[in-house]
Amino acid sequence: KAHRIVTIDGPAGAGKTSVSRRAAGLLGLAYLDTGAMFRALALRLGPEGHELPEAELDARLGAMVFSLAGSGADTTLLVDGAPLPDAARTEQVGAMASNLAVLPVVRRRLRLAQQALGRAADLLAEGRDMGTVVFPEAGRKFFLDASPEVRAARRVGQLAALGRPADYAEILRAIRRRDDQDRNRAASPLVPAADALVIDTSLLTEDAVVARIVEAAGG
Ligand code: C5P
Repeated sequence: KAHRIVTIDGPAGAGKTSVSRRAAGLLGLAYLDTGAMFRALALRLGPEGHELPEAELDARLGAMVFSLAGSGADTTLLVDGAPLPDAARTEQVGAMASNLAVLPVVRRRLRLAQQALGRAADLLAEGRDMGTVVFPEAGRKFFLDASPEVRAARRVGQLAALGRPADYAEILRAIRRRDDQDRNRAASPLVPAADALVIDTSLLTEDAVVARIVEAAGG
């Protein structure tokens, strides 16, 4: 029997991660943070990683083992058995991940890993291309959006909570740059799937967004 898949896509800072985790718990699905897979690769390869030869990227990715531990809101993504360090959550690592994410060899390897996880469990999969490319057959698809200013302000708040105070103007610039790169790349650009429910979260509380998703996904 095919596993149940719900997808949530959207740009950086739209509030996807905490919303997705909570919705997964309420819907009884494992939570897959696919951005964390790109971030794990970025941490492993360093800032020049996207300049490595394609064959080497393919080999490095082929050797990485992704798995999920726990369930629902408490699902943890493990890479070679270890969770992602907090250092992976910085905007610098996000930018490195975005540089890697334009490369077809990287997208292909991670797509295969994501689809394998989707064959092993009922999933709420969160990322940029979950509804369009990785799980086009998903039963329910969402696209969360918000203005760049709102997203930058949220990001500053999240980083402060991690003990990493950040400059709003700098974060806004970084978010715009990463958006541009994610939306305009040839391989799997960030766009809502034709059958996705688009939710603008700019003026909604996190609770309200979670409630809309759970209601529409039939939890
Ligand atoms: O969502 P998060 O900010 O953690 O993602 C980091 C970067 O990884 C994104 O800016 C994007 O370039 C890339 N990504 C992607 N496809 C996904 C998830 C993330 O291209 N499904």
